[in-house]
Amino acid sequence: MSSRTVIRGGLVVTASDEIHADVLIEDGRIAALAASGTPAAEAFTAERTIDATGKYVIPGGVDAHTHMELPFGGTFASDTFETGTRAAAWGGTTTIIDFAVQSVGRTLREGLDAWHAKAEGNCAVDYGFHMIVSDVNQETLKEMDLLVEEGVTSFKQFMAYPGVFYSDDGQILRAMQRSAENGGLIMMHAENGIAIDVLVEQALARGETDPRFHGEVRRALLEAEATHRAIKLAQVAGAPLYVVHVSAQEAVAELARARDEGLNVFGETCPQYLFLSTDNLAEPDFEGAKYVCSTPLRPKEHQAALWRGLRTDDLQVVSTDHCPFCFVGQKELGRGDFSKIPNGLPGVENRMDLLHQAVVDGHISRRRWIEIACAAPARMFGLYPKKGTIAPGADADIVIYDPQAEQVMSAETHHMNVDYSAYEGRRTTGRVETVLSRGEPVITEREFTGHAGHGVYTPRSTCQYLN
Ligand code: URP
Ligand code: ZN
Ligand code: ZN
Ligand code: ZN
Repeated sequence: MSSRTVIRGGLVVTASDEIHADVLIEDGRIAALAASGTPAAEAFTAERTIDATGKYVIPGGVDAHTHMELPFGGTFASDTFETGTRAAAWGGTTTIIDFAVQSVGRTLREGLDAWHAKAEGNCAVDYGFHMIVSDVNQETLKEMDLLVEEGVTSFKQFMAYPGVFYSDDGQILRAMQRSAENGGLIMMHAENGIAIDVLVEQALARGETDPRFHGEVRRALLEAEATHRAIKLAQVAGAPLYVVHVSAQEAVAELARARDEGLNVFGETCPQYLFLSTDNLAEPDFEGAKYVCSTPLRPKEHQAALWRGLRTDDLQVVSTDHCPFCFVGQKELGRGDFSKIPNGLPGVENRMDLLHQAVVDGHISRRRWIEIACAAPARMFGLYPKKGTIAPGADADIVIYDPQAEQVMSAETHHMNVDYSAYEGRRTTGRVETVLSRGEPVITEREFTGHAGHGVYTPRSTCQYLN
């Protein structure tokens, strides 16, 4: 028995078009679109009708950077796959790509199996995995080929965090050479962690223990240097490169230069770098710990370069790097020593709204909003056009978005399992009203109507974004 839904009267916004159209959904997929009011649209029949008059009808968000339950700094990110994907749904995100972790001395397979076990049966929306490679050896390199074949087509390496996730230049080069052969995409955490650790030690020796020193020792120059080095290593390997969580204007400049040379180099930034700054890190009474993440928040002056990069396509994707730690009991681990504050910010629920606010504020166009939050991440990570657009054949992952509704972001009202909001008190215009995941309503007029286990693992093809 087929089940059909029709969404009538909304403005359908994709990365390429804006049209007043009715959308017919059948068996979880988009079956057809037709201009509203035309005979073709009138002919759509369905068991369920959603009235989207005055609303946007947009593709569900694709958040390509989350860390549910990540072990970090002696604790675990506070959102589980259940709570984190429910919050994602509330925020209009219908696909996450989370980072499975290879521990040093373990295989990629062990890490991936562990992440499948955490996620399976628990997710409210669909999910895929990248793989964090912390131990590059002959076995790991062979395993990368197998993972690409089974839909884990991207691998994160760290130039930061010596002794934890860190890879040296030789290990990075080997992984890049492998990905040049197997079609995988290397995602780089580009910060010079060896130099940063020296500056951390020196700062602590001077008694500089407050959260704001986290931002000072993780110098923009050391992000730029690592970004430059990663680009050159990728060039030597003949591999594409995706730099995660870009925050420094100097790093954007490195990406722009490489792209002008025609290299397959891509950049992601995150809402925290677009909307927050070192002013937050400097908040008194240890409140700054709420804003400790890496790369760190930068002085406000960097934001213009990030917005510009998003407009000029020197940056392609906005993901959240959602990695929440509660203030009480988790961020507090770093009282008296900023280097012990677990790194990461909550945001999976806030991204679509904050980027809509950027449309309202004139930073980006409506279509660019959908490009950087839905279509580009789907193409970058091999999910397009199943995810990231509204077109016949695509999964019916659709958000009915009210562009007029006002809201105030707050820990009191959000759904992430964390005791603070990085955007507490911020007023935004625009709000998710209804969310469909493969045609099923998971948010219905601002009520959660989904369930844990609705979301399924989604294997990915290789990057569809290459020159
Ligand atoms: O501070 C951050 N970004 N925490 C998550 C781990 C990472 O480096 O992405
Ligand atoms: Zn990182
Ligand atoms: Zn991350
Ligand atoms: Zn279901």
